[in-house]
Amino acid sequence: MKKEKMIQRYSLMERLNHWTVAFCFVTLALSGLGFFFPSFNWLMNIYGTPQLARILHPFFGVVMFVSFLGMFFRYWKHNLPEKDDLVWAKNIDKVLTNHEVGDTGRYNFGQKCVFWAAISCLVLLMASGVIIWRPWFADFFPIPLIRLALLVHSLAGIGLILVIIMHVYAATWAKGSIDAMTGGKVPASWAKYHHPRWYREELAKQKQKDEDERKAG
Ligand code: HEM
Repeated sequence: MKKEKMIQRYSLMERLNHWTVAFCFVTLALSGLGFFFPSFNWLMNIYGTPQLARILHPFFGVVMFVSFLGMFFRYWKHNLPEKDDLVWAKNIDKVLTNHEVGDTGRYNFGQKCVFWAAISCLVLLMASGVIIWRPWFADFFPIPLIRLALLVHSLAGIGLILVIIMHVYAATWAKGSIDAMTGGKVPASWAKYHHPRWYREELAKQKQKDEDERKAG
């Protein structure tokens, strides 16, 4: 049987970057829930002990934020709104019954919403996190601001957890997506079905590369 043509979707660096963010997120979300709800206090042990969790949670937060910035600067252009996003949004009922709609580029409208929601929550988490970070920074801020920052940090944390639950659900639902983020490549048929415009752009790039190589001899 003829092997299907594969298209590169993520380089090794991109995949390492994404899984660093994902790993940090899981430990941060669990330890954060552990700080927040007394019945979840045991989750603080994700970092070894509750004391270590108190120390490490903010540092992992910085690593997640900085790592996500790497993804942000790489992907923001692909996540800008376009007119085909309207087609996708208007036909969400079809999308939910597993039919692709519109001439989707590298990311569909749902993925774009996750992207912008994630960066918004992360900026709020980082800014409020610095204000409440004891013993390093909290002493520089007045108590009412620390209280406000605690509220913002909790709400943005819950917001990000909900966004990532949706992200993971969509990633496992669209068969082949996880392979893109683990092995880096997707079958041409997957690309053509889920991201037709991105597929055409990749084909054109490949054609141009082949042409340049042919000319170079
Ligand atoms: C925890 C488990 C996670 C899983 C299983 C997962 C899975 C995936 C998969 C399969 C893709 C590729 C989708 C595609 O190319 O069509 C992807 C892309 C992406 N993921 Fe995750 N992810 C996880 C966590 C996270 C976290 C915590 C964040 C951010 C806080 C994140 C942000 C992104 C972004 C920004 C993209 C690129 C899509 C875009 O720019 O719209 N992921 N993820």
